[in-house]
Amino acid sequence: MTEIVELFPEPGDPLEPGALLSRYAPADRSEPRLRVNFIQSVDGSATLEGRSGGLGGPADKAVFDILRGVSDVVLVGAGTARAEGYGALTVTDDLMDWRLAQGLPAHPTMALVSSSLDLDPAGDLFAKAFTRPLVFTVPSAPQDARGRLAVVATVIDAGGTGDAEGRVDPALVRRELLTRGLPQVLCEGGPRLFGDLIAADLVDELCLTLSPVLEGGAGPRIALPARDAVVHRGLELALLLRSGSMLLSRWTRA
Ligand SMILES: NC(=O)c1ccc[n+]([C@@H]2O[C@H](COP(=O)([O-])OP(=O)(O)OC[C@H]3O[C@@H](n4cnc5c(N)ncnc54)[C@H](OP(=O)(O)O)[C@@H]3O)[C@@H](O)[C@H]2O)c1
Repeated sequence: MTEIVELFPEPGDPLEPGALLSRYAPADRSEPRLRVNFIQSVDGSATLEGRSGGLGGPADKAVFDILRGVSDVVLVGAGTARAEGYGALTVTDDLMDWRLAQGLPAHPTMALVSSSLDLDPAGDLFAKAFTRPLVFTVPSAPQDARGRLAVVATVIDAGGTGDAEGRVDPALVRRELLTRGLPQVLCEGGPRLFGDLIAADLVDELCLTLSPVLEGGAGPRIALPARDAVVHRGLELALLLRSGSMLLSRWTRA
């Protein structure tokens, strides 16, 4: 049943965290779920001047925080970590209290996906991480970069085969996260990784914010094709929130 709620009618009002928690926390944490979170302009761009930040506002930030807070692991493509300047993954104090009360670690684990391993081991993402990050890569990744990252992260080979050789196989990532006791996965993009997840039919839920702007330009769609094959995955609308002219939706696997 779709829930359609106008929570805070004044434009720019943040959504109240308690009201959001009840709508985004998984009912059963043991049931594996891979969620993807994106924001896009009304005309379909995933970026404003090369980053997603310019599209957002307080309501989107509130949902972004909640989604992190209720997840076990945040999965990100290296391109997004580089473009958005990812630092250490932490949640707000309120969400940390909620997590501890649920018996969860204070903060989720960060997991990155990269073939090149062009990631700075001295950066805050690693150096200030609460939990040792995971880095999924391929056997052909540069050995020197692998060695440097292995000091600050757990580097895991999850290379694809055949056409997908040289790329990380998302199904292997999913399996490895489950094995490590991390069933609630939040993927924060980017478009290349999302395309791979769609192709592998691993997406259980898309949380999509529609930002009230027309962007024009050549910004990417939220999903880039993994291969030439076009796939068709049905979704159902599970939740629609409105904050001013910003729409925040949850779409689940049909
Ligand atoms: N609107 C939004 O909500 C949103 C969300 C996220 C990102 N973005 C934007 O999207 C842009 C980045 O796009 P993108 O397509 O480059 O993002 P991306 O998917 O995060 O990054 C692509 C890179 O991530 C790694 N990667 C992803 N999937 C891989 C796989 N299956 N196997 C191996 N490596 C994989 C590779 O890194 P290596 O090059 O290291 O091998 C690849 O070059 C940025 O401008 C960012 O701001 C927008």
